Amino acid sequence: MANVLVIDDDDLTRKLLNQMLEMEGHTCEVAVDCAQARNHLKSNNFELILCDINLPGETGLDFIKTASADYKDTATIIVTALDDPEVAKSALKRGIYDYVTKPIRLNRLSISVANALRRRQLELANRAYKEDLERMIVERTSKLQKALDGIVRATALTVEMRDPYTAGHQKRVADLACLIAKECGLSKEQIDGIRMAGIIHDLGKISVPAEVLSKPSRLTKNEFNLIKEHPQVGYDILKEIEFPWPIAEMVLQHHERLDGSGYPQG
Ligand SMILES: [Fe+2]
Repeated sequence: MANVLVIDDDDLTRKLLNQMLEMEGHTCEVAVDCAQARNHLKSNNFELILCDINLPGETGLDFIKTASADYKDTATIIVTALDDPEVAKSALKRGIYDYVTKPIRLNRLSISVANALRRRQLELANRAYKEDLERMIVERTSKLQKALDGIVRATALTVEMRDPYTAGHQKRVADLACLIAKECGLSKEQIDGIRMAGIIHDLGKISVPAEVLSKPSRLTKNEFNLIKEHPQVGYDILKEIEFPWPIAEMVLQHHERLDGSGYPQG
């Protein structure tokens, strides 16, 4: 059963509505004008407001406009002598649950009250469901993001275990690239992508023999050519994975230079 606020300047109408609502098991407060109604709203929680349009001072429609913004969970029904379809349509468009004309037929109003309370319940349940769903999506996304980060870090470590000279290199590149990106004013999402690409950018070195990677002396031309293949190999490994960022492309291009002297595409 609901707590209902009745706003009407006519004594007889207030009494009639009060009686009808209490007979149906609702509790009821009455107000003769908008100021009194506001006082009731401050001290009570109402599931439903039944409101007249022609009230002394502020009209019922203006009152509901402001009250609905402050009390979003409260349903409203207009009960008025103003039998004007245009006014009714515009009120319904603004979110008022029903528009009932006087003289009041109790059966009609009783059905309207039941419908409004039912609709309010459904809307509240729907809102709670959406909020739960959004919370769940955020939680799952965060878990997936953590798993993805973990997989990428593990892959980076696998490469670095074969290449003691560059151990920690990818992490340092990622840290520096993120600092530069931040300085450039890139968004958090872009920076996250840059961090991920940085962590994994030398993945293609997995195809370079360990003795070449860890050779302490100068590399021969052939050995250097082998090293130069690592951006393409990294790209080939990553290109089918649907990251939220173009990670494979970043890996492919990480030895390119603006003046065209880089590799593999010059
Ligand atoms: Fe590299």
